[in-house]
Order: sequence, then C-alpha cells, then structure tokens
Amino acid sequence: MNAPVKSSEAESLRHVRQSLPHDSASKHVQGTAQYIDDIREPEGTLHIALGQSPKARGRIVSLDLSAVRSVPGVVAVLTTKDIPGKNDIAPTLADDPLFADIEVSFVGQALFAVVATERDIARRAAKLARVEIAEERPSITVEDALERDETVLPDYAFGRGDAKAAITQAPQQLAGQFRIGGQEHFYLEGQIAMALPGEDGDIFVYSSTQHPTEVQHVVSRVLGIPDAYVTCETRRMGGGFGGKESQATQWAVTAALAARVTGRPCKLRLDRDDDFVLTGKRHDFRSDWSVGFDGEGRIHGYAVDHLARCGYSADLSGGVVDRTMFHSDNAYWLPVVHVGSRRLKTNTVSNTAFRGFGGPQGMLVIEQVMDRIAWATGRDPLDVRYANFYSPNHNLTPFGMEVEETDTLIDLVRMLERTSDYRARRQDIAAFNARSPILKRGIALTPVKFGISFTLTQLNQAGALVHVYQDGSVHLNHGGTEMGQGLYIKIAQVVAEEFGIAMDRVRITATTTAKIPNTSPTAASAGSDLNGMAARIAAAAIKTRMTAFAAQTYGVSEDQVEFRDDRVFIGNDSLSFPEMAKKCVAGRVALSEAGHYKTPKIHWDREKAQGRPFFYFAYGAACAEVIVDTLTGENRVTRVDILNDAGKSLNPAIDIGQIEGGFVQGMGWLTTEELVFDKEGRLLTHAPSTYKIPVASDVPEDFRVALFPNANREETIYRSKAVGEPPVMLANSVFCALTDAVHALDPSKPVPLHAPATPEAILRACEAVRGRPMA
Ligand code: MTE
Ligand code: MOS
Repeated sequence: MNAPVKSSEAESLRHVRQSLPHDSASKHVQGTAQYIDDIREPEGTLHIALGQSPKARGRIVSLDLSAVRSVPGVVAVLTTKDIPGKNDIAPTLADDPLFADIEVSFVGQALFAVVATERDIARRAAKLARVEIAEERPSITVEDALERDETVLPDYAFGRGDAKAAITQAPQQLAGQFRIGGQEHFYLEGQIAMALPGEDGDIFVYSSTQHPTEVQHVVSRVLGIPDAYVTCETRRMGGGFGGKESQATQWAVTAALAARVTGRPCKLRLDRDDDFVLTGKRHDFRSDWSVGFDGEGRIHGYAVDHLARCGYSADLSGGVVDRTMFHSDNAYWLPVVHVGSRRLKTNTVSNTAFRGFGGPQGMLVIEQVMDRIAWATGRDPLDVRYANFYSPNHNLTPFGMEVEETDTLIDLVRMLERTSDYRARRQDIAAFNARSPILKRGIALTPVKFGISFTLTQLNQAGALVHVYQDGSVHLNHGGTEMGQGLYIKIAQVVAEEFGIAMDRVRITATTTAKIPNTSPTAASAGSDLNGMAARIAAAAIKTRMTAFAAQTYGVSEDQVEFRDDRVFIGNDSLSFPEMAKKCVAGRVALSEAGHYKTPKIHWDREKAQGRPFFYFAYGAACAEVIVDTLTGENRVTRVDILNDAGKSLNPAIDIGQIEGGFVQGMGWLTTEELVFDKEGRLLTHAPSTYKIPVASDVPEDFRVALFPNANREETIYRSKAVGEPPVMLANSVFCALTDAVHALDPSKPVPLHAPATPEAILRACEAVRGRPMA
C-alpha cells in the first residue's frame, strides 16, 4: 500500500533535476545583484522617515508637527489628512491604519511621515514632533490579554471525540503549559520601497515584497485610484522569510503616498533598529496541553489550547494560527483530540508570517509531549514516536484529511535511524553521561509532516507569461517572487526543459503586476508548485502551436516533431530553435502565452472543520546530538543528520541549500534568538547586539543532509515537493536533544524547559532538575 508512485515522466530530462547554481549566485557574492537600494535614484528623489508612537496604548490628544515642518530640507509632512483614499493597509480585516489618528496600539506605530531631500534630515526632523498621548495600561503578555479577554479574531477549535474523557480514562496522564518564543525575520536586506509618480496619477513602485499584488491593491486603496494605475515590481529580495508577505506593504504605500503628494520619486528604507521595532515577528505562544496514554506510550487522547500573541491587529494571524492547529498532530495519530486556539490582542507590533507560518509552534508542543511520555514510561523517545505514527489504518487527521502516504514517513524515519546510527549512539551517550557529572550529551530524532497549499483555497493559483522572440530567446515571467530560495532558476529549468533549449536562452525577468495580475504571495512553500506549473502550461501552449506549424510546413505528422538539444527535429530535417522561431514569426504563429494553474483536489470547510486543505504533505526527519555544560547552560550542536522528502527534486543543490538554511534558521529560533519586551511594550532586543541569530560558526560541525528518494504521488511539477518551509521544523530535534541532555541529570524528573532554550534557560532547567530552582 502507498508505494511511492513512479514518475510517469520519461526521465530523459536535460535541465530539471540538475543541480544548477542559483541564477544570481555569483552576483550575490560579487555584490552586483541589484537590490532596491542599488537602483540608481532618479534625480530629485526624496527620502522618508516615520514619526513613531512613543507609547503602547492610549488616545492621541495632540500631534504638533510645526517643528518638524520647519526643518530645512523637509519637503512634506504626511498625516492622515493627506490620504486621498482609505487609511487602511490591512491584509485581511481593516484594522491596520497607515497612520494612527485616534489611538495608538504599539510602541513605534507610525503617526506621520517626513519627506525630505536627505534621509538623515528626514530622520532627525521626525524626532522633533510633539506628541501628547493619554496613556492607558498596555497589554503586553498573553496573560495581560487573557485578563482583559481581548482578541484580534474569534476563538476557533476542532477535534474528534471527547478528549477530556479519553485523557481521564487512559492509564496515565500528563499535563503542562509550554511557552514558545517569537522570532525576528532578520532578512539581510531590510524593508524598502521606492515609488515613482507617472502620468495621470500612475504610480510605479519598486518594493521588496513577497506579494506585489497586495502592494498594488493597497497602494490603490490608500491613494483612491484604480488598480490599473499602479504597478509593483520586485526583482529580488535579500530574504523575506514571511516578513515581507503582508508587512512590506506599509513602506511601499507610504512611498507611493509621498510620491503622489510631492510629485517626485520617493524612497523609504528602514534602518535595522526600526525594522525590528516596526515589523511583526513569528507569533509567540503559550500552549496548555494534556495527554492520556498507555504503558507503551501510545496516545489515547490529546488536548491542546494554543494561546497566540498576535499583537495589535489581525494581519495574517487567522491563517498562521490555523496552521498551528493543522500541525498540532505533527506525524501522530490522535484517536481522540481537541485543538483549541485563541488569537490574543496585545499592544505589541502585529505578528505575521514566518517560515512555517505557525506550523512549527504546533509541532514543537507535541514533540515535547512525546519526550514527556517517554520519560514517564521509561521508553526510548524514538520508540514512543514510532508507537504513535500515522499508519494505513489510523490515518485521519483531526481535521478530517486522510494521510495517504503513511509509509513515506515511517520508511524515512527508519532509514534515518539507520544512517544516523541512532541506537548505537544512544547507548554511547548513556555511557558517557554515566561517567560525566557536569557535561551531558543528548540526542533526539524527530519527524516532520507539513501540509502543502495555502489553507485559504483561493490563493492556490498562479500565472506565468512566456514570450519566444524571433531570435529564439525566451522571456520568462511569473507571479512568484525571488527571495533567495531559488524559485527563478527552478522555473527557468522547467521552461528550458519544455522547449528542449539551452538554459541560457531563457531570460528570467522581474516579477511585476503589469505582466501577471491577481497573484498570490510567494509563500506557503508553494512557489515552484504553482508557478512552475503555470510556466510549463504557457510554454507547452507555444510549443503546441510551433509543432503544428512545423508539421504543416514540412508535411509530416505532429508526432514527428520533437524539441530537444536546442533544436527542433521535424521528420528527417532539423532546425536550430532560433531558426524555428524565426520561421514561426514569418508564418504568423503567436509565440506568446499566459499560463494559469490552480491546485486540484483541495477544499476546506472551516465551519465544519472538515476537508482537504492540503494537496499533499512534505516529510522529513532530523537526528541532532548536543553537548551541554550543566553548570553554565552553554551548549553545542555536535552532529546533525537530516533526511528530507522534497519529492523528485527539481534542483537538488537548491533544495539542499533550503534544507540547510531552514534548519539553521529553526535552530536559531529554538536556541539563541530571544525577543524581550519591557512592561511598557518597548522591544529591548532590537539590534544584533542584543538579538543573537545563528552565524556560520553555529552551523553544526558535522552536518549531513540528504534527500529522501520519493516521487510525489500527486501530479506536481515533475513530481517534486515543496521545500521552503518544512526544514525549519527539523530543528525541533535540537530542542529535544537539549532537553534529553538535561534529563540525564536526573531521569526521574521532567525537564522544565521552554523555547527558546537559551543558555540561561537551560541553566535554569538544570538547576530546577537539581532541586535548587533559581529566582
Ligand atoms: N529562502 C531564502 N533564501 N530566503 C527566504 O526569504 N523564505 C522562506 C523559504 N525559503 C526564504 C527562503 C519562506 S517563508 C517561504 S514560504 C518559501 O521560501 C517561499 O518560496 P517557495 O514557495 O518558492 O519555496
Ligand atoms: Mo512563508 S512564512 O509562507 O512566507
């Protein structure tokens, strides 16, 4: 059952599956890849800085901007009065004003914008505003919001059976509260946009965004002009990681408004500290869980309530927290289950998409529950996981979707168990720990099952535009954006493959709303699934017309026409691709096509909490080993083995890069990256000096990454699978390995460790296990 489907494609592929380098790789390292700040500024470009709220919550009593306006070099000061359309930049509800006008909701919220001849002048002038706010006590933590019962969206729950009863009736029970920290995106290129005013009120915006269509729509909403007057172009981002899915809009809209008011090109670039303070992060959670299980560690019932700190507005919290709920099972069959959620409103910046989109949090909770069950039953944590994996007879998720590929995950985990030598190393570690009182080693092998598709069904569509010119060069455009993940090269491979031409005939071009309309964000890891198909459909349509023309012209049947090796073979003749293109133009064959693709099979009824929200699942597993100094909490990740299911990879080098990068980013989230807000709602950790992301030296010394050989059973582009986000969750293995090491101090005690497991948190946990809790 469920044997991996063999690809139906004849695998005589020339470009797809090749480990081609990222199309901009050499430009990235040479510094010649053009980012928005590298675009030569048109003469007279103005620069923007934002006036920010000094308070987290309160009513605006007065805003005196006279001193700001009088600074030489200041050309305009923009407030709500300058907005011709709606003062609303929200992606979902209407709860994100461009400028706060009645009340403020978080420290840093934009009150006004200064437009000046120089960036420095704008920044200095912005500080001269006199702002009076009737302050109210802010809600900062999840507990503050619970006390006031304030949410950004309604509570939502789903499940199966009576979880409370199943847990009580099980032979053993455990319960706890688990805290998971947020994460700053720390893209290398910060938020930036440049807007150019055109004729008749046209606006052209360069935006570092994952979602050019959203920028276009919101610019037109705020300026009160039709979408067709606005064009947004994005050649590349220096990283997005979800942070530029909805939250690149504000800067683009501010720049567009400034361009509209001043009639001059306007640019807004946040500096790093402002970027930290003014943009949302991964949601932090308190998750209250309870579980009932038997002596084998098999779960009888599981209940979890996810309390998410959403910040002051909804933003994407609906989808993010839903995805947390969809991944609360991770890879495990939960016969009776309750998954609840609250989307709590706090006076902090609005939390947003971040690689994994809420999934990592839901999965981490149940992974630490697995470890707790292992400690309670005395079984190996990996065996507890095996006891609970989905299987052909137990394959229904809590939301009514069948897991069709149960063998993939079990085969993959078994293979990693072997290749990582998990059992022997477990014994070796136990022997080491028995003779080492201070240094403790730990190991963990954790699985990932991640649903691929946007859970909002309408987003699962894409468009592409392909032109073949008469010299045989091919212009490729699609709705997906490039943020370093290698989407552009993958799609170029697909198009070169379709035409049977050399890669260098395909010219990759910047994403723009003028070529592909009504696009979805490049997110949910679906970029190559969606745009790859759309591009292939476009190229195939052109090829079909070229084939018909060639067959007719040479008097052969269409199946005697073949595109390969950069040529077109027609019966016994052959032409170079450029020669064929030229003939087609002379023969009045249309060599341009817009392709459109929509994901099949998916549907989701949120009311009933039933459906198939995902086209398929991507799988993976990681085995991490760590060593901890239990007197200081300092630690190192000494070895990591990863096996990841990217289906039949479009580009193995790119995919392995995504796995390595995603894993290390996840490891940073769970070990060193810690966001601290003070009681007044000020973010204290707003620079690399206080916020520690992983660097090259944090990459595990012994890091073994492999792709699991597996064709997607669904008809995705060349049977590949999405790879952008799932690897983040492979880093759960590091968190579990750290708790495993601390657990060695006293196997009779549970380890009270929350995420992130910073050295301080680990030391605290060690001291608690030793029975001397720190203040
Ligand atoms: N890789 C790089 N280098 N930079 C990024 O910003 N974003 C991640 C992932 N990998 C990101 C990345 C996120 S959050 C997503 S959703 C996917 O890439 C989006 O691209 P894809 O759909 O083409 O995989
Ligand atoms: Mo990725 S968080 O879906 O942009």
